[in-house]
Amino acid sequence: AVSAAALSVAANAAYADTMGCDDGEMVVKFAHVTNTDRHPKGLAASLLQERVNAEMDGVMCMEVYPNSTLYNDDQVLEAMLQGDVQLAAPSLSKFETFTKQFRIFDLPFMFVNMDAVDAFQASETGQAMLDSMQRRGLQGLGFWHNGMKQFSANVPLESPSDAEGLKFRVQTSDVLVAQMEALGASPQPMAFSEVYGALQTGVVDGQENTWSNIYGQKFFEVQDGTTETNHGVLDYLVVTSVDWLDSLDADVRDQFLTIFGEVSAERNAAVGEVDADNRQAVLDAGGVIRELTAEQRAEWVETMQPVWAQFLEDVGQENIDAAQAINA
Ligand code: LMR
Repeated sequence: AVSAAALSVAANAAYADTMGCDDGEMVVKFAHVTNTDRHPKGLAASLLQERVNAEMDGVMCMEVYPNSTLYNDDQVLEAMLQGDVQLAAPSLSKFETFTKQFRIFDLPFMFVNMDAVDAFQASETGQAMLDSMQRRGLQGLGFWHNGMKQFSANVPLESPSDAEGLKFRVQTSDVLVAQMEALGASPQPMAFSEVYGALQTGVVDGQENTWSNIYGQKFFEVQDGTTETNHGVLDYLVVTSVDWLDSLDADVRDQFLTIFGEVSAERNAAVGEVDADNRQAVLDAGGVIRELTAEQRAEWVETMQPVWAQFLEDVGQENIDAAQAINA
């Protein structure tokens, strides 16, 4: 009889085959949770895979597991420390148990747009964040962009009071919990793969996410509409383990990091286009998008901005000042 373990080894080998890995190549697994098609992370991961597998043929072979098929974001960093997966790109909201520094990205209305996010990340402070978890065994390789977040719900959201009493799915982040509480809503941390079902069955009433995720996961199908608040940032840290990176021969590591840097620059530069494309796709598919007047927007800012003070100690006034200077 063939054991289940042997079967699963065979299945993995067959999968690796279809990905074109050869004997002797170092297999690098990249696990993520989004779709691949017209998604900022999916497209970047696919381009990285394509280039690594073409240019490092015979040395390294990358397998990408999208759509939470290998791990969800709550499991992937532990799996990485165990050596079961080598690359992941969780959103910056999902690193709380490793560092509190990324909390600045979750604070509502901290960054005016993705250019400001990009400039902050490129600054000395932003670049130092890549190394902030080394002690815990994780190494940030670089940031990948997704976009600004919007709110959707099963009722129209125009004024912040419309969110009062509603249940909103949030990523696992204390800042995002506090943000929903500031609105008088009830935050429900939940894995990304469960959100569509939770919206559909009414386990939650609403959620916040980017156009690429709202279209990619079809959230708009099970919501009244989406309000274009641009109230927060959803961005990623591409991360690996210190041990894995150290284990590479210097020339292999250099080649890999060079490809990674080029792919990141190329895809980050294209992210505005992908975001706009997904926003349009929501409209084309019959989704409702509500825009805010300047007065309405000011109400959302006023209601949510007090959250900054709650996390001032984790984030640091100097970093808030630096972010605000970039916005200006
Ligand atoms: C979410 O959980 O909503 C996002 O972090 C998913 C993602 O990877 O974009």
